[in-house]
Amino acid sequence: MKSGNVIVVLSLSLILSCHGSFVEGRRREFPQDFIFGAATSAYQTEGAWDVDGKTPSLWDYHTHTYPDSISDQSNGDIAADSYHHYLRDVEMLRELGVQSYRLSISWTRLLPTGFANKVNPAGVEYYSKFIDELLKYNITPLVTIFHWDVPQNLQQLGGLTNPLFVDWFEDYARVVFELFGDRVKFWITINEPKQICLFGYGSTRLAPQLNAGGVADYICAKTILLANARAYHLYNEEFRSKQGGQVGLAVDVPWYSPHTDTKEDEFATELQRQFDWALYTDPIFSDSPGWPAEFSERILNKSLSQGYPRSRLPPLSREEAEYIHGTGDFLGVNHYVSNRVSATKFLKEHAVPSTYDDANVGTTVPDDEEGWTVSEFGIMPQGPNNLYHVLSQLSCRYTTRYYITESGVPTGTGLNDTYRVTAYRNNLESVLNAIDEGIPIKGFYAWSLMDNFEWLSGYTRRFGLYDVDFTDPARPRTAKHSAFVYKHIVTHRHIDHEYDPAGRTMTID
Ligand code: BGC
Repeated sequence: MKSGNVIVVLSLSLILSCHGSFVEGRRREFPQDFIFGAATSAYQTEGAWDVDGKTPSLWDYHTHTYPDSISDQSNGDIAADSYHHYLRDVEMLRELGVQSYRLSISWTRLLPTGFANKVNPAGVEYYSKFIDELLKYNITPLVTIFHWDVPQNLQQLGGLTNPLFVDWFEDYARVVFELFGDRVKFWITINEPKQICLFGYGSTRLAPQLNAGGVADYICAKTILLANARAYHLYNEEFRSKQGGQVGLAVDVPWYSPHTDTKEDEFATELQRQFDWALYTDPIFSDSPGWPAEFSERILNKSLSQGYPRSRLPPLSREEAEYIHGTGDFLGVNHYVSNRVSATKFLKEHAVPSTYDDANVGTTVPDDEEGWTVSEFGIMPQGPNNLYHVLSQLSCRYTTRYYITESGVPTGTGLNDTYRVTAYRNNLESVLNAIDEGIPIKGFYAWSLMDNFEWLSGYTRRFGLYDVDFTDPARPRTAKHSAFVYKHIVTHRHIDHEYDPAGRTMTID
């Protein structure tokens, strides 16, 4: 434990009771400097998987080798073909009137060997042209350096369970900063550590489906923290003075709240937060360096009781913890899900060992409380004012600034996406509630600009503001109702719940 029991209990109660209030009932506007944007990632949209020198990533390998692991046996070989249609993508951003676009760089399009020994000129040209096109229209690029598409040859060496990943990532980040940092001032090092580590290494929810829970996912978590820190320090030491940008990471933060107001459920909720996302953010943004105390103590005790000679959680030495501490200019918050947490109810059997078994808390979605919604696939439940609660909780926990770097919902195909319209309005009301309270929330990126390859769900779940026709080789994009509604909010900096997009034509204003 990094601190004494008294301090831990005190800090826990602060974390759990820190909620403010907001004013309702007046016309509210987003501040002029609030950034509206839309987001995508390379593997999900670019296609051109083996074109112009690009080599396979983990996701190329996984979809080709295990097609049955994808709901519709599809892959990102062509996806929305943004490699050939990025000009249309920028046109869509201009139609929406957004100030920023979040895109990611494909590691193997830029560095075909995975290492920094050989830079692919075609990759440099593609991203350069894309960035220039955005800047031409005053759209600020927010560039994610790594959104899950590890070079397959590095994956074969263990990917994020190999401690050398930290060096490989730093080398890659240096190339990216050197090539694009003159024009890109807004960086995300790594997207969603939990999805990489817990879903990819600790279970079967994402590639590589390693399913080595309670071990590989913790090794991966340490790698993420060190890789992010390396890129951050690299930027500080070699680039910040001449490029003057900001560097953060994006973490998926669901809203977890206690099932009852008992101390047990409150403690279970804090444990769930630590096991789910705070293991990645506390070491960077909290006041004390190192793993969250209860998380690390729980794994040590479980490991010892299971006969392991030491904790399955790799330690962070004092030197490592200090190196990691403070390595983010902002926290990118991706938000999709809300759950209630219980210490004693809704518990499930889990593999031993696993992160889920280590946490050992129950989660549920209330079916008897107003304001909860669940998408048509029965996934990604959202609670009332959920995003406000997330931001309120985070701002009690850390002193930094925030961007919502992803927010969205899945639907089927079709342009009349009422569920998405309602979700965006609700979540943006939540953001206004947070702004009202003085929480430093600086921007909001819709996930996603367009329909794309939704990982193991293939093309069966759509997240786009724009529909993409994946049966047409030209991959035409068409604005959905949500695109019109988002545009209206962006233009007026106000949420008009009466605005009806039916029958309108999309234009660049
Ligand atoms: C990821 C995206 C994904 C989205 C919807 C996030 O977890 O960053 O790549 O498509 O959620 O599931």
